[in-house]
Amino acid sequence: MNETHVQMLNDIRCMIADSGVESFLDSNPFRSRADHLYRCYCWAKRILPCRPDADAELTLVSTLFHDIGVIACKEKTGKEGHDVLGGDIVKDYLLNHGYDAAFAEKVAYLVAHHQQRELLNAPDTPIEHIILMEADMLDERGALGVVWDAMAEGAQEQQSYESTLARFKKRKLYKHPDRNPMVTEIAREIWWEKVRLHMAFVDALEKDLGINE
Ligand SMILES: [Fe+2]
Ligand SMILES: [Fe+2]
Repeated sequence: MNETHVQMLNDIRCMIADSGVESFLDSNPFRSRADHLYRCYCWAKRILPCRPDADAELTLVSTLFHDIGVIACKEKTGKEGHDVLGGDIVKDYLLNHGYDAAFAEKVAYLVAHHQQRELLNAPDTPIEHIILMEADMLDERGALGVVWDAMAEGAQEQQSYESTLARFKKRKLYKHPDRNPMVTEIAREIWWEKVRLHMAFVDALEKDLGINE
């Protein structure tokens, strides 16, 4: 991460903390929004080498800020509208930090439209938009998805290894192992890795628990 992006992430962490949204946005206290933004930034960085035609700075800044709209969300409505709300927030931030209007406008567009997953396969979707959506979808799947499920199950009043296993099996990765929604070459390969890991983990856990014996 370069110095500018580190500063941006620090500012994002402060904006989210000051907004107080973490107290109501998610019932799982370990699911930090700012950490999600950082991890998506990392996914985008890993994908970028296969698409040298993408504007890396536009992709990375958009990914880092993509969920910033949550700071304007209300308890009653939850995350609803955070994409559109985020567009104006990131535009203001960038203009106040010396970025030119054209760049700020492009980032604002990508942030405001990051939930439109149907655009992943549309022929005229900009590559930066595709990578942002891929990065968002890769987070909390695979190893982290398993940890999320296990931690969430551990917070239940009634806990069992079997109910945790059942939760792992509800994942789309498990239910539809042949579906790969990614578009770019690297993201597609990462998705397959996550599917293989998830399936192998469920198999191993079933063996550990003596299921089907
Ligand atoms: Fe989002
Ligand atoms: Fe996100």
